[in-house]
Formats: sequence, C-alpha cells, structure tokens
Amino acid sequence: MDYSEFLKTHKVMLAPMAGVSDPAFRQLCAEQGASLAFTEMVSAKGLSYANERTAHLVDLYDGEALAGVQIFGHEPETMAEQAKWIEEALGERLAVIDINMGCPVKKIAGKGDGAALIKDPVLAGQIISAVAQAVQVPVTVKTRRGYYEGSETCIDFARMAQESGAAAIALHGRFATQMYRGEADWDCIARTKQAVTIPVIGNGDVFSAEDALALFSTTDCDAILVARGAEGNPWIFAQINEVLETSGEFGHPISAAPLETGCPTLAPTSEERIEMARRHAHLLHEREPRSVVRMRKHACWYVKGIPGASAARATFNACTMVEDFDHAFDAMLSHLSQVDASHGGVE
Ligand SMILES: Cc1cc2nc3c(=O)[nH]c(=O)nc-3n(C[C@H](O)[C@H](O)[C@H](O)COP(=O)(O)O)c2cc1C
Repeated sequence: MDYSEFLKTHKVMLAPMAGVSDPAFRQLCAEQGASLAFTEMVSAKGLSYANERTAHLVDLYDGEALAGVQIFGHEPETMAEQAKWIEEALGERLAVIDINMGCPVKKIAGKGDGAALIKDPVLAGQIISAVAQAVQVPVTVKTRRGYYEGSETCIDFARMAQESGAAAIALHGRFATQMYRGEADWDCIARTKQAVTIPVIGNGDVFSAEDALALFSTTDCDAILVARGAEGNPWIFAQINEVLETSGEFGHPISAAPLETGCPTLAPTSEERIEMARRHAHLLHEREPRSVVRMRKHACWYVKGIPGASAARATFNACTMVEDFDHAFDAMLSHLSQVDASHGGVE
C-alpha cells in the first residue's frame, strides 16, 4: 500500500493511547469519523512470550475493517518477528504498524524502549529496517521533538527513519523530558515536513476542530493524530472532518468513511454525552464484563462540566459492573432534568 495515498483519505486519526484506545473507544471514534484508530501500544517482548494479556491488545472489534497497531520494544529481531505475527493475525484488517519511539514514561523509556530510542538513532534505524523488511504493510514511527528539553533532534531522526524504510513519521511537538508540560511546538513539525519526502503526521494539543485546521495549515502536515482531545469526546472527529471539508483546505474528501452522525458541528448536549458514556460502558461490558472498570476514567471525561459531574466522579470510581454505571448515568440524567425544570426548562 502507498501510505502517502492512503493518508490523503485518512487525515484525522485516533492516536495510540495506552489504557484508553481499546476496541470500544476505537469503535465510538470511528463512528464519529476517525478515519483510522490505533491500538494501545503493545509490547513486542510481551507478545513473544505468547502473553495472552498482551495479545489481547491487538484484538479488533467486530466490524473494525482497518486498524493501526503500535508496537514498542528495542530488540530489532523481536520487533520484526512480532510485527510479522500481528500481520498474519490481522490480515487485511491491518493498515499500518507504528513503532513507538516517543513514550517518555519511566517504565517504558527506562528499559530502552519508546522515547529512549531517540537517544540511540542507530538502534532505532535497525529496528525500523528490521520491521519494515519483515512485513508488507507500511511501517511508521511515532516520536517526539527530541529527548532532552531544548535539544531538537527530530529532523535528523525523521531523515534516519526515512532512510531506514519508514513510510511516515508521526511527530508530537514536545521533548520527552517535557512530558506534557508547556505547549506542543508545531514549528518543528513544519520543519520536519520540509526536510523529508515521506509523509509527516502532526500531533500535539489538538483539542478542537479549529486546532486541527491550524495544525494542518501551519505545518503542511499530511495527517494528524488526536489523543487527549478525544477523551470523553469522540465527536471531535466529526467536528474536525466537517471543518476541514468546508474549509476547502484539501480540495478532495478527507475521510474515506461517510459520517454516521447528524450535524457534527453541534456540540453534543449533556444528555447526549451521558448516553454516549452509557454506550461506551455497554460496549466494554459486551466484550469483557470485568473490563467495564476501565469506564471509570472515561465516564469522568464524558461528564466533565455537566451539572452534578463532581459528585458523579466519586460514584463512577466505585462502579464495578455495567449496572452500576447505568444507575450512575440515570442519576445524572434525573439530576439534569431537575436542574432544567428549576430553570423553567431553559438551558
Ligand atoms: C493516556 C495516554 C496514553 C498514551 N499512550 C500512548 C501510547 O500507547 N503510544 C503512543 O505513541 N503515545 C501514547 N500517548 C501519547 C499520545 O498518543 C499523543 O502523542 C500525545 O498525547 C499528544 O497528543 P495530544 O495533545 O492530542 O494528546 C498517550 C497519551 C495519553 C494521554
């Protein structure tokens, strides 16, 4: 597959998010127009031990026609073998394998994985070429501006990735040691785009459709990844698609999938947010009843800012079953209708 061509109709994607981008969340984001969604990062080493909990991370939901899978690790051979296993396991449904070279958290980077590879471009290159040679699907690299704050290395890193066989580079405009502090620097994405011929995927601080449009127009990036802006807010994809389509920025459709929503520019009502949260909880429950506890953090994100949200947070954090979430959502809806009634039904 020519990944540059693919990205022309898959411009707005859900970023990999450990503990967040599970099948239920990917489904809701896809329904709202995310043109591709990435799995949570999966350990190549864990897969090589045939660890079921790890393998679970590459399970797709029924109807997930196409997905991106992100792997992490630092052993070229293990990474290549496991990428191959993923390709065989997912077949036609695998669009791309992304290699995590940006995660700064200690338990990943401290073991030489994720962002630690920014400090070892030779090994990073060996990993990229080993994986790219092992699979047919495009292999991309997701990284950061540099490792140490103030020391920008992403341009050289992107050139190295391109020479090693990467089909695209996804760039979060922060240094690894910065974690999430400060603002993402989009200029480094623009500079990297100028320096390589492979597509550059912009990432960092897209919290609205306007942010997405600005990221595209200021960097000339080929596609974007949205992470935190989608938490509790899958509608962001519909809103971004609508703004991009109407802006005429690209002169062609930017999403291969037709929107399944009504009017995406409208912000969802409080009731719609609660009902989306309920649906999310049920999707988690249907796959694996015990996994519904993951809904605790999602539920808090969905209801943020709604009257009664702070009280509801404590309730969500005690929920263990889907019925508990249903009761909590019912209570929020009834609280909302009382608030509406006391305001004469006017919002
Ligand atoms: C909860 C959480 C989990 C994340 N997990 C991953 C991951 O598994 N792999 C990865 O490459 N990045 C991961 N990231 C980073 C995001 O993909 C993204 O690069 C970063 O959040 C910046 O984008 P944003 O400003 O849109 O959030 C994670 C971020 C968050 C908030």
